[in-house]
Amino acid sequence: MNESNRIKKLPKYLFTMIDDLKREAIAKGIDIIDLGMGNPDSPTAEHIVDELCRSAKNPKNHGYSRSIDNVEVALREAIAGWYHTRFGVELIPGSEVVPLIGSKEGIAHISLAFLNNDDVALVPNPTYPVHFNGVLIAGGVLHSIPIRAEDGYLPDFDAIPKDILKKTKMIFLSYPHNPTTAVASKAFFEKAVDFAKENEIILVHDLAYSEIAFDEYKAISILEIPGAKEIAVEFHSLSKTYNMAGWRIGFAVGNSKILAALVKTKGYIDFGLFKPIQYAAIKALTGPQDCVSKQVALYERRRDVMVDALHKIGWKVPKPKATFYLWARIPDRYSGLTSMEFVSLLIRETGVVLSPGTGFGEYGEGFVRFALVEDEDRLIEAVGRIKKIFETEA
Ligand SMILES: Cc1ncc(COP(=O)(O)O)c(C=O)c1O
Repeated sequence: MNESNRIKKLPKYLFTMIDDLKREAIAKGIDIIDLGMGNPDSPTAEHIVDELCRSAKNPKNHGYSRSIDNVEVALREAIAGWYHTRFGVELIPGSEVVPLIGSKEGIAHISLAFLNNDDVALVPNPTYPVHFNGVLIAGGVLHSIPIRAEDGYLPDFDAIPKDILKKTKMIFLSYPHNPTTAVASKAFFEKAVDFAKENEIILVHDLAYSEIAFDEYKAISILEIPGAKEIAVEFHSLSKTYNMAGWRIGFAVGNSKILAALVKTKGYIDFGLFKPIQYAAIKALTGPQDCVSKQVALYERRRDVMVDALHKIGWKVPKPKATFYLWARIPDRYSGLTSMEFVSLLIRETGVVLSPGTGFGEYGEGFVRFALVEDEDRLIEAVGRIKKIFETEA
């Protein structure tokens, strides 16, 4: 029963270990405050849920979904319309838009669509794990680019060795960035597009957090850069923008040839999305958007409350411009611990669950990520408990 080499190569899934630690803590009667996974805690807006219920009652919507079906055509149009309104980017719905069963699925499959076993994919590290795990599952060669606080967590394209570049087929970028919360400027995206064009590399941009942005910051689409569509595709998700994480719906947009290979790959593996979810997604994208602004205001308040509370106990965590995470260097007095050991200590002693930096790649060592997916009272309670162990361990 030996797993394939490509599955054996996958890094240990730290979140399974965290689940075990959570279970042990619960068994001991510890109250868990779970700031581990980026799983939105607020409900999907009522008008979206209503549309799901309405369309689920129609038996015509119970079969397989095909790309020529009316609902898929309408969904691709709704996505193109949303992109145009939000980013001013024109997309041809029939060839430049692909609905996905969550963007994670598409990001994994794009590696499978393009990577042979001697093709290199460049992946900044730390990052959202499917960016590199998709490469390993596809059997490609992973080249990690360390990204660091002092560089704003942006990769240095000039530092990539020429012999690696010769074998490189794809690069994965994602700003606003999970887990570091970094954002990128238009100038950076211009550089990234130039770099991909010069080296004939497919540029994959993951824009899952475009709408979760604060303080007048507005995230941009890589497709806003002139000529980007010649080499780039962008992945997007309804999970965070509309609190639809469990529904499994996202999409890819951009270069039609790249997307055609993705569609071909998926065609052998899945059967599209449940039609009522597509109808609900159309409602989300074309309906009132005040649910999004309310959600962003809620995350902004949580961010302010949490950063202030952490500063008060001496943990100087940067205030992010986007995403609903905080990316925090492990306090000096715990610098002898790995991020996993520090997270384990916090779970055992306080019931507060964070994500270890190494869950996002080896260059995440020395950091932990807070997901602001509990309400303000619970966030303050979490900091109170952390303060106590800081005091007892001091
Ligand atoms: C950067 C990033 N991309 C993609 C995803 C996955 O989104 P989806 O639910 O659409 O698969 C996540 C989820 O946390 C994410 O953080």
